[in-house]
Amino acid sequence: MKHTDISKVLKEKEFLGKEVTVCGWVRTFRESSSVCFLELADGTSFTKLQVVIDKSKIALDAECTRLGASVAATGEVVKAFKGDGVELNAEKIVLLGKCPPEYPIQKKRTTLEFLRGIPHLRLRTNTFNAVFKVRSVAAQAVHRYFHERGYYYVNTPIITASDCEGAGEMFRVTTAPWNAKAASEEEYFKNDFFAERAGLSVSGQLEGEVAAMAFSKIYTFGPSFRAEKSNTTRHLSEFWHIEPEVAFAELPDIIEIAEDMIKYLIRAVLNECPDEMTFFDNFMEKGLKDKLNHVLNSDFAVCDYTKAIEILKEAKADFRFPVEWGSDLQTEHEKYLTEEVFKKPVFVTNYPKKIKSFYMKQNPDGKTVAATDLLVPGIGEIIGCSEREADLDKLLSAMKERGMNLDSYEQYLDLRRFGSVPHSGFGLGFERFVMYVTGVENIRDVTLFPRWVGNVM
Ligand code: 4AD
Ligand code: MG
Repeated sequence: MKHTDISKVLKEKEFLGKEVTVCGWVRTFRESSSVCFLELADGTSFTKLQVVIDKSKIALDAECTRLGASVAATGEVVKAFKGDGVELNAEKIVLLGKCPPEYPIQKKRTTLEFLRGIPHLRLRTNTFNAVFKVRSVAAQAVHRYFHERGYYYVNTPIITASDCEGAGEMFRVTTAPWNAKAASEEEYFKNDFFAERAGLSVSGQLEGEVAAMAFSKIYTFGPSFRAEKSNTTRHLSEFWHIEPEVAFAELPDIIEIAEDMIKYLIRAVLNECPDEMTFFDNFMEKGLKDKLNHVLNSDFAVCDYTKAIEILKEAKADFRFPVEWGSDLQTEHEKYLTEEVFKKPVFVTNYPKKIKSFYMKQNPDGKTVAATDLLVPGIGEIIGCSEREADLDKLLSAMKERGMNLDSYEQYLDLRRFGSVPHSGFGLGFERFVMYVTGVENIRDVTLFPRWVGNVM
């Protein structure tokens, strides 16, 4: 269909005084005795286009006035009666698709909770238009950031036999019938498609390390899957994961990269989504833009885990979970540190090795690893990061301590046998980043079709 995007009509001066056809969905309808006003949205811009219909010239089909109906409108682009924008003086309105009154999105401000029940329609609201614009701009910026700095973009496998995080949260991939009878686990998997246990990847890191040992700087940006039964506002069973891996980089180097990348992404979103960010500032999180500008203009804090435990022990807060050296930080602890103590993003470093993954570089103290989580206000952890253990013997001992099956990691171990080098990487949960920059509080509202325990609609 020959037509012009509403975003172009609104922004580009060349359309003023010209005839155009725009297509979209009716967002509002008003009328007076002589004119009608249709607000049309086609999703290409946050702002909608007002279409003015002179009743003496056009007999408007009532179906065109219903919320959600799709129409094509042709007319001249003129200066708006009010404000400094433009509007369309309609000469012709064609109905493309009817929308009966059962259309669930009737009021302007429907709750996010209600909209979660209609994921196939909720994208037509202002909020979701803005969220997905920001998400798209941020995704493009991720690729730009790494590309401009000479990283190779690699695609790591989604089906895998190795559980990178070792947390036993892998979804199984199988062709075996649901009622397959087998005498043992071994026999069961022998008859399966891959003839061994396979699952959906929880992280592209292990294969990312393979690529970094050849290309020095790589990143992946793809889906990760976790069968975590965490029914929270920050967990999904399927999320998008940005994972750079850098050779010849130690923990302080990768921390610098993570901070630089986060700032780059924030800057991109502020510059490229001004209308959307103003909307979020007004309706989602008051002071959001100030918060982000403050983040851009300050250094992220760095705090040793042991120090963080001291701070939490002294805190005058009612934590549900106990604070003890050696236990993992809970969301409430993470939020306290970043919201109450540092009031900005903070890297917590050198966690106890017992609560972290096998691949992390062991510190000389024998108790901690060179790992860091980046915590941000409102969410808690958004990045998991570490220097990797490059020493074969130390890596082997960490794997044995965890009772891992070394045979499945032979190739990974070869990386330490053949030209091992210090290297580091991190994983940024993309949805958590989008929550952070939009102020949206539930991860299910920054994902097209969120999946979580018990929900795969
Ligand atoms: O901390 P995680 O588990 O680290 C890794 O997977 C490493 N292999 C990354 C690396 O070093 N290459 O996960 C990294 C990030 C978390 O900080 C969080 O932002 C996000 O992934 N994440 C989730 N996001 C949404 N839903 C979940 N269930 C998530 N689990 C992790
Ligand atoms: Mg983590």
